Amino acid sequence: MDKPTNKLRKILVTQALPYANAPLHLGHILEAVQTDIWTRFQNLNGNECLFFCADDTHGTPVMLKAKEMNITPEELINDVYKDHKETYDLYGINFTNFYSTHSDENKKFSEEIYIEAKKNNLITKEIVKQLFDEKEQMFLSDRFVKGSCPKCDAPDQHGDNCSVCGASYDVLEIKDPISILSNSKPIKKDSEHIFFDLPKKIDTLREFLNKSNLQTPIKNKLKEWLSDDLKKWDISRDEPYFGFKIPDEINKYFYVWVDAPIGYIASMDNWFKNNNIDTEEVWSPNSNYEIFHFIGKDIAYFHGLFWPALLSSANFKLPNGIFVHGFLTVNGEKMSKSKGTGILAKNFASICDPETLRYYFASKLNDKVEDIDLNFEDYVQKINSDLVGKYLNIASRTSSFLKKNENKLSKNIDKDLIKTLTDEKVNVIDLYENRKYSQLVRLIMELADNVNKYINNETPWKKDLDESVDICSTALNAFKIISIYLNPIIPSLSNKAYEFLNLKTCSFDDIENILNGHINNYKPLLNRLEPLIIPEEEDMDNQNIIDINQFSSIDLRVAKIIKAEDVDGADKLIQLTLDVGEYGTRTVFAGIKSSYKPEDLDNRMVVLVNNLAPRQMKFGLSEGMVLASSNDDGIYLVSPDDGAEPGMKVR
Ligand code: MSP
Ligand code: ZN
Repeated sequence: MDKPTNKLRKILVTQALPYANAPLHLGHILEAVQTDIWTRFQNLNGNECLFFCADDTHGTPVMLKAKEMNITPEELINDVYKDHKETYDLYGINFTNFYSTHSDENKKFSEEIYIEAKKNNLITKEIVKQLFDEKEQMFLSDRFVKGSCPKCDAPDQHGDNCSVCGASYDVLEIKDPISILSNSKPIKKDSEHIFFDLPKKIDTLREFLNKSNLQTPIKNKLKEWLSDDLKKWDISRDEPYFGFKIPDEINKYFYVWVDAPIGYIASMDNWFKNNNIDTEEVWSPNSNYEIFHFIGKDIAYFHGLFWPALLSSANFKLPNGIFVHGFLTVNGEKMSKSKGTGILAKNFASICDPETLRYYFASKLNDKVEDIDLNFEDYVQKINSDLVGKYLNIASRTSSFLKKNENKLSKNIDKDLIKTLTDEKVNVIDLYENRKYSQLVRLIMELADNVNKYINNETPWKKDLDESVDICSTALNAFKIISIYLNPIIPSLSNKAYEFLNLKTCSFDDIENILNGHINNYKPLLNRLEPLIIPEEEDMDNQNIIDINQFSSIDLRVAKIIKAEDVDGADKLIQLTLDVGEYGTRTVFAGIKSSYKPEDLDNRMVVLVNNLAPRQMKFGLSEGMVLASSNDDGIYLVSPDDGAEPGMKVR
């Protein structure tokens, strides 16, 4: 009889495009692992599933970061691209294509979608009043403005909300605004902006919400947003901006969130070209491809509202589903993508086998939007007890008996035991399909447990050779099945298991096949983990290597302290007046009071960062920084040897 053939689904998946202004942290890896497992599963299960991603390269942060590093944005995004790619490789993330939003394909599709939207009367213009930094000659988004809260007067608050009283406000309302780019006071200035008429798309969005595969809390959130009054979406940014120019406009750029998701299409198009697939057809409403986006909960608004609205305005297919995950915390603490406090993925991979992190993440991931904690103790315990103690233990404790039989397997195996494993295939497939990985891992570990119990009960060590070979061959057949079940999660470890079993790559169709022939000698496939100690990022972070040009951009000068005074109301600061030779005198507020008395500092020579942007502090303007080192015991000012004169360059 013919085997029933699985209907081949054609599936395209994406994960969110990481910003090209920083290295990847473990939160990015969580998302990549979740998506990669699903993709690998689909392919093993007889479907065709392709996985696309790219770097998200445009926007103000990339532009400013490049400026700060004294390189062009293009140089920055090229360096970051290499680094991101290497990092994903370390974690076995199997992209079909990893591309860039700064590409011809992306420009083409961004323009095309915009022009279609315009044809369909979805583009309007409005004058917008914004804060403008005259020194930097640029408009300031909320994140580049600080000032006093308009409600409670608390100083030093963010552009859009107050951390003291919790108020949220429009950046134009903030009192005494300061541009954090230049420390100057911005002015209010008008500019014409281009808008996408989101409210006109409300029916499409309602339909999308009902038809597509979305998690319930996300569906509810989208419903809530849809029933609030939807606003038009501001899709333009003025110069200077790193991005694509808007067709037929002068010096206006697409806001990064316009061309970022279009980058999904661009990454596909770039690969499709060489693989005989027609992008237009794939993205047409009657496409025979399913499209799914994996994203974090912070960007659900963009993917659930703006993205389908944009797509439909150009008559593109809408995604079949959006799968949203929660945030990663480490040992119970929040990681911060902007503050760089997250553990860098590359660093983690250098102290710990990345494959084990894939397993740990899988053991915690599910179809919910909940946050997920990486707890180091739990991690080590889980790897040692599950992967080493249960799964690999099956192979290590049985292979020695087969060795006595020249590694030849027996076909006389215990069918009942094997059936308990093959019977779970439907459940395994269902749990993968529905992204219930934690439940899946538990199920697979129960199976491994049972195999170990079987070995304990059958006591091959007490039996004659033939019988012990039967028992151990049964166990190794079970080991094979478990290796296939785990393959999407730990592909490299599972491939090593196949090698040991003398198998080529396997798919879910091979679950029922019985091993025959011989195996290879067993070598331990994974060592027990020792307790994890993560070195401070500073110690190992070689991302921060700068070249000689970057170093020379820091102007260090010898300076002489001509006055040192306490600062009223500041218990850490000393106000220094410095003689910097040809550069005149400078005022610097230095946080050194815990180790120095003002009267001991007179005439002392120090080293000054001479070209640091002045900083407005509560007590006055600080015009530079003096160099000092510190440890738990105190602060130590850096001084030149005798003979150095104020104003001399330090290099
Ligand atoms: N560039 C945008 C996405 C554009 S998609 C068209 C972006 N980039 S990001 O680098 O900030 O985040 C990329 C993905 O990583 C997002 O899905 C985000 O939710 C996810 N994560 C960022 N920090 C995270 C954690 N701490 N934990 C889990 N995921 C996290 O947003
Ligand atoms: Zn306030």
